[in-house]
Amino acid sequence: MTQPKSDAKTSAAPHLLVLHGPNLNLLGSREPQHYGAATLADIDAALSRRASAAGLVLATFQTNHEGAMVERIHAARQEGVARIIINPAAWTHTSVAIRDALAAVAIPFIEVHLSNVHAREPFRHHSYFSDLAQGVIAGLGQASYHLALEFFINQLSGD
Ligand code: DQA
Repeated sequence: MTQPKSDAKTSAAPHLLVLHGPNLNLLGSREPQHYGAATLADIDAALSRRASAAGLVLATFQTNHEGAMVERIHAARQEGVARIIINPAAWTHTSVAIRDALAAVAIPFIEVHLSNVHAREPFRHHSYFSDLAQGVIAGLGQASYHLALEFFINQLSGD
């Protein structure tokens, strides 16, 4: 009996991983004056559509649990993820563990924020991620994610 040939492409390992930190599951209803009206599902769907139009596979992940985020980042290295877009949300200002996970896997990443963290409370002005990030985009609403994605699409197309 002939076995179907295994084809690595059918497993669709993601090229791009979009990570969302705590409370971003509430987008759409959460402080819309800061975070806009789009839901997380809206944002993820638009990013996936754009990536797939560019011939790339994009995966998304949101968690409210710091350890789960650390483990998702570790798994990204096993999967061969090429680039990460991360909105660390409140962990931006607190998490050495997530910073260390990104440093450990050494996958280039862009830090994004919906709101302009520098125009808000002083505790939001410090990030544990910015000095490791390839770039930082803040304050442009969901366009922050899209501009990061365009940058990586161009970068990966040029590889
Ligand atoms: C945020 C800004 C953070 O300060 C805040 O804790 C968030 C969202 C943003 O996208 O603007 O949860 O990362």
